[in-house]
Amino acid sequence: MRKIVIAGNWKMNKTVAESVTLASEVVAAASGIRNVVVAIAPTYLALAKVADVLAGSNVKLAAQDVHWENQGAFTGKVSADMLKEIGVDYVIIGHSEQRTYFGETDETVNRKVRKVQSLGMTPIICIGETLAERREGRLESVLTTQVNGAYAGLSGDDALRTVIAYEPVWAIGTGVTATDDEAQQAHAFVRGLLAGLYGEDVAQSISIQYGGSMKPENAAGLLAQKDIDGGLIGGAALKADSFLGIVAPGEALSK
Ligand code: PGA
Repeated sequence: MRKIVIAGNWKMNKTVAESVTLASEVVAAASGIRNVVVAIAPTYLALAKVADVLAGSNVKLAAQDVHWENQGAFTGKVSADMLKEIGVDYVIIGHSEQRTYFGETDETVNRKVRKVQSLGMTPIICIGETLAERREGRLESVLTTQVNGAYAGLSGDDALRTVIAYEPVWAIGTGVTATDDEAQQAHAFVRGLLAGLYGEDVAQSISIQYGGSMKPENAAGLLAQKDIDGGLIGGAALKADSFLGIVAPGEALSK
């Protein structure tokens, strides 16, 4: 049985003080959640303070990115060891904004995935096509390249300790969501890729989140799809009530 994992990606939003407030609200609102893994990803700056807020709660701490080296002359970057020290459980890797604006490639995604896993944290590996790629009929080839790149050199056991976020780039922050069918088809395709790499048992055990304008109004429909196992939530995660409005249908479905 796959876990439903719903993670809030706060991106470059919220000061430290605001992050502490929102984290406290999420902890309170999620206290009764038993069947969904709930995680929040504040900025690096707020991680340590938010870790204190989450201590003893059922909400997991996630980081938005990581560098693959342990330490050194990498101005502006944060290492996996540093994240581990403050109690990070999940690390978002390969987000489309990282790929588009900051030169993330499938190779750097792979390096980050391996590093994070070596320290016992779980990567949330983001993949997804642009609108142009979809229109040109390249959806499957783009997803294949991204999955093969991210999982290069990972064993089946390693793969079991990953989460994928399928996020069509055209749906991120735009208010346009993939339909339930569009999302399900892409998720089934990704699961098929994992089955090709690791066999059906492993593929059936890996949670694949949907991301891209997911909100309380569309969460139940998306989460009810056979191959959709949670969400990576941007805008709707910036308020506790809308974030929990996405978690609640997940909790109801997984009972
Ligand atoms: P969105 O962002 O929910 O604001 O579309 C999702 C994401 O980028 O992870």
